[in-house]
Amino acid sequence: MRTGTTADGTIEHEHAMQRVLKAWIITGLLFMLLPGTFFGVWNLIGMSSGETMMAIPPAWLQAHGHAQVFGWVGSFILGIGFYSLNKMAGNAPAGARAAWVSWALWTLGVGLRWWANITLHTWRIALPASGLAELTAFMIFFRTVSRHKPAGAAGPSQPRPIWMKLVLLANLGFAAALLDNLGLVMRTALVSSTPAIATPADQLFLTLVLWSFLVPLIWGFNARWMPVFLGLREPSARGLVAAWLMALGAVLAALLAGAWLLSGILAMAASVTAALALHIPRRSERPPKTAGVHASFPFFARLPYAWLLVASALSILAPLADRAGGIWGASRHALTVGFVAAMVLVIGQRVLPAFCGMRVLFSQRLMFWSLALLNLGCLLRVGSEPLAYEGIWHAGWSVLPVSGMLELSGIVLFAANMFLTLARPPEHLRLHSIRPVGSRLS
Ligand code: HEM
Repeated sequence: MRTGTTADGTIEHEHAMQRVLKAWIITGLLFMLLPGTFFGVWNLIGMSSGETMMAIPPAWLQAHGHAQVFGWVGSFILGIGFYSLNKMAGNAPAGARAAWVSWALWTLGVGLRWWANITLHTWRIALPASGLAELTAFMIFFRTVSRHKPAGAAGPSQPRPIWMKLVLLANLGFAAALLDNLGLVMRTALVSSTPAIATPADQLFLTLVLWSFLVPLIWGFNARWMPVFLGLREPSARGLVAAWLMALGAVLAALLAGAWLLSGILAMAASVTAALALHIPRRSERPPKTAGVHASFPFFARLPYAWLLVASALSILAPLADRAGGIWGASRHALTVGFVAAMVLVIGQRVLPAFCGMRVLFSQRLMFWSLALLNLGCLLRVGSEPLAYEGIWHAGWSVLPVSGMLELSGIVLFAANMFLTLARPPEHLRLHSIRPVGSRLS
């Protein structure tokens, strides 16, 4: 009897965690679609018709960037973090409550920031309020993370695996970025005449967000999943620690000394070291696990590392040759779309259906096209942005809207595939409901 109650409780807790994870994922998808990607394409079309970055207010560009980085990727990370850590720690009832409170604050904070940047409505109050709500949502998450003990750890002497160390370090980067964000929006609200953060401070902030939070976080999750999904050798822990230290060096060089060239060189060294430590260029030792996903999965899971190298190479070139923001923009786009977004699309379609209640991806073909279009759009954007912005090739301005539409199509297909996957019942219930009557009796 007791066992039955416990088992029921466990199942109920699992369902509670799956419901809140679904809320985080759907929120992330909505931020990605409208305030993020549609608005990004809108900005790009405006800039292309004006043939200058100045055609669009900086507050709009920042609204787009914030919605993508925090609204989309941040929501996915917090949702998956809450789900997996509560599952491992088995503290679902309290965990689910904390996850819902954090979700409400996070959604409010990110939504408020976007709204204030676009409409200017009470922005001097809305900006600090949004920064505070985001930081509080994160602190709730961080409290859950720091209470968590690694599964299977016999005692304090058992070291955490390298992937978990990287994820924790990246979460410290996340905390630092949100603190910095709060300081910046408070300062902006006090002294600025628009809700846009001043460009030099914004550029430093983006370096902090990308190289201390998003990039190391992806390395951490890749260290956990690439050996399983791609059949690669276990990653080199030393190599990954070295890569993280170099990425940190890249952030500090920019933040403390404004040494952008050194920062770019360190970012490049970190990227090469991480790719080698994860054995990305090597052949798989075991057959990759492609059941439920498109057969091109191993290719698309490796491709973001090529974009990481392109982004780093451009960040070395930018301090030497950028005049109008084209090389910096291309470097950031290679990193945010080519590395971060493409990795979220490829790994997300692999793991999220199972996390959200043992579902199966709706369509493998949609998965292929979402990845192909996103990467093609990114190629056109990164190829033409420096040429157009820097005044080297005028026709580049006509290529940019096409690149935006291709990326948008890839993102929309990803969102459609995810929504349709979540709308279907879990696989075991679906099979049960379509099984012939006779087979149910047997
Ligand atoms: C998918 C289509 C996308 C389009 C069309 C797009 C478009 C743009 C445009 C036009 C800018 C202005 C700066 C420039 O011209 O380089 C920009 C900046 C930015 N984008 Fe995107 N973007 C897209 C996707 C993404 C994604 C997926 C992310 C992050 C995951 C992202 C993050 C950013 C950030 C952080 C900035 C800098 C904002 C700032 O100045 O603070 N973008 N994007």
